[in-house]
Amino acid sequence: MKVLLTGGAGYIGSHTCVELIEAGFETVIADNFDNSSPKVVDRIERITGTRPKLYTLDVADKAAVDEMFENEHFDAVVHFAGLKAVGESVQIPVRYYRNNIDTTLTLLETMKKYHVNLFVFSSSATVYGVPETVPLTEGMPTWCTNPYGWTKYMNEQILTDAARADEELSVVLLRYFNPIGAHKSGLIGENPNGIPNNLMPYITQVAVGKLPRLGVFGNDYPTPDGTGVRDYIHVVDLAKGHLKALEYAASHKGAEIFNLGTSQGYSVLDIVNTFSRVNGIEIPYDIKDRRPGDIAECYADPKKANEILNWHADLGLEDMCRDSWNWQKNNPQGY
Ligand code: NAD
Ligand code: UFG
Repeated sequence: MKVLLTGGAGYIGSHTCVELIEAGFETVIADNFDNSSPKVVDRIERITGTRPKLYTLDVADKAAVDEMFENEHFDAVVHFAGLKAVGESVQIPVRYYRNNIDTTLTLLETMKKYHVNLFVFSSSATVYGVPETVPLTEGMPTWCTNPYGWTKYMNEQILTDAARADEELSVVLLRYFNPIGAHKSGLIGENPNGIPNNLMPYITQVAVGKLPRLGVFGNDYPTPDGTGVRDYIHVVDLAKGHLKALEYAASHKGAEIFNLGTSQGYSVLDIVNTFSRVNGIEIPYDIKDRRPGDIAECYADPKKANEILNWHADLGLEDMCRDSWNWQKNNPQGY
């Protein structure tokens, strides 16, 4: 199967590209390097021995995307390309809506023209908004609290409507929980621009000496130790979920939603303590105020993906902490 990975040079896309190549898929990356480096393609080649073909383009650019589809004869599209910083999306919402919605519309129109019928989409647990109960199942109510989240929500609606209207189209919407970790080679990993917003890259940058101390955002949540609880998932397990999603899309029509999470919630202090223990590095931290918009607890019920996709997260928190650090210490300045 020949698969287009939009945003394939990014954190999750690059790990998925490796897993797809190793499973025998043919992969093509389309990326504009807005939030990634062309060096990722060299690293993927070093890991797998195969160099994915690269198109440097904006996935919202209809003419460029059309030319690529004309050349490549894809069987499937996995759409990772998107802007993903929650805080930034509040500052520049129009750019987020333009980029994250236009890319999907361009792909859907071009896929229709070239009879490409399998679409896997990177959605997010953010569409559950402020959950009333956990664990989260796919049927629970969705709502969002920021423009980034709304782009995921709207994309889910657009893709569901498109699949409803076109009986040839198969859409799989994957709601990722919190991906951390890196490929065990240490050659690819998460490489945020500037000061990280997310917990694990912040911790690894403290560990490597780029940042002095971690701020823990709140210790008065109704959780066992008062800090926020999330469902952290190893990015390699998450990547493998895309293989299962492609197989599922190839044998089913319509749109289907799957949570990709582990079912296990860990607190901020669980992450800090496990990282310190596994890697032998103390992470100094201060308790700060709650971060606006944060929720107390968010973790998945992944039963649907376990049963229907036959997918399970195998790697544990120690693997995630070890592999995140292995990536950071081997690449202190990123790519
Ligand atoms: P990332 O920023 O590392 O990767 C996204 C890639 O898309 C980057 O390489 C970027 O350059 C590219 N890109 C963005 N807009 C583009 C455009 N118009 N044309 C071409 N390329 C474009 O992010 P990631 O963590 O790998 O996330 C991948 C997807 O998963 C995103 O859609 C994100 O919203 C979603 N997601 C991520 C998380 C997370 O915590 N990392 C959680 C849930 C969902
Ligand atoms: N946290 C800190 N200090 C930091 C960073 C984070 O204490 O410096 C805490 C947060 O308050 C939260 C937990 O660590 O309790 C996780 O925070 P992240 O920013 O790593 O992750 P979020 O759950 O807030 O958000 C992530 C992605 C979103 C996505 C969401 C659900 O950033 O894009 O997971 O998938 F929508």
